[in-house]
Amino acid sequence: MSLSPNDSGARAQAPQASPWSGGQPVRLERVRKAYPAARPVFGGLDLEVQAGEVVALLGASGCGKSTLVRLVAGLERPDAGVVRVGHRAVSGPLDRVGLMFQEPRLLPWLDAWANVAFGLSDGVRGTADGDRRVRELLSAVGLPEAGSLLPHQLSGGMAQRVALARALARAPEVLLLDEPFGAVDALTRAGLQNLLLEVASRARTTVLLVTHDVEEALR
Ligand SMILES: Nc1ncnc2c1ncn2[C@@H]1O[C@H](COP(=O)(O)OP(=O)(O)O)[C@@H](O)[C@H]1O
Ligand SMILES: [Mg+2]
Repeated sequence: MSLSPNDSGARAQAPQASPWSGGQPVRLERVRKAYPAARPVFGGLDLEVQAGEVVALLGASGCGKSTLVRLVAGLERPDAGVVRVGHRAVSGPLDRVGLMFQEPRLLPWLDAWANVAFGLSDGVRGTADGDRRVRELLSAVGLPEAGSLLPHQLSGGMAQRVALARALARAPEVLLLDEPFGAVDALTRAGLQNLLLEVASRARTTVLLVTHDVEEALR
């Protein structure tokens, strides 16, 4: 379905995209990025990730992994070159790009349910559809009973699962993960990695995972 820009009435009534929508390709073309008074991080980076592909990027600390994630997320602008998600040139944060960091970054005053609901778009949060989606996501990450727990009542691994559910709430076309499982123990990490791969392949989401951990990249 294609909509012209002033079709807002039609847009409001358009059926909701599938909760597990497919992925979009990510392309970086000749991307240059330097922070003031520092050696350039990227001199002319080309990268192509196909729709639905799960790619791990491995690199030592300080090599530019978080910068890459921030460029794709629209949190940083390249000095030259272009970043594309699907056909769009990224010029700021996009609704359908999910982000997950090393720490869960949950809102401490909201329970797990509300933290996941926080990831829904405004029009969906609080509706029956939104509630169904939160329930589905908490189940998908193996926490169907944890909705009423506050972040301080969750273990590190549980909190990261809630963060993953929140990142998936808007049915992201692209999921960006910046060393997401670095702060949990090895056993929990393996479980979270499996969970991520399973959920991402079900949703056919494009996944870009950056890590400095060789084992994580190889999974
Ligand atoms: N906001 C910033 N201002 C100046 N330099 C930065 C900033 N963010 C990152 N850098 C520098 O850019 C390089 C890449 O950083 P980063 O992308 O965080 O690497 P990584 O995530 O791989 O550890 C490092 O040398 C870092 O010191
Ligand atoms: Mg980093």
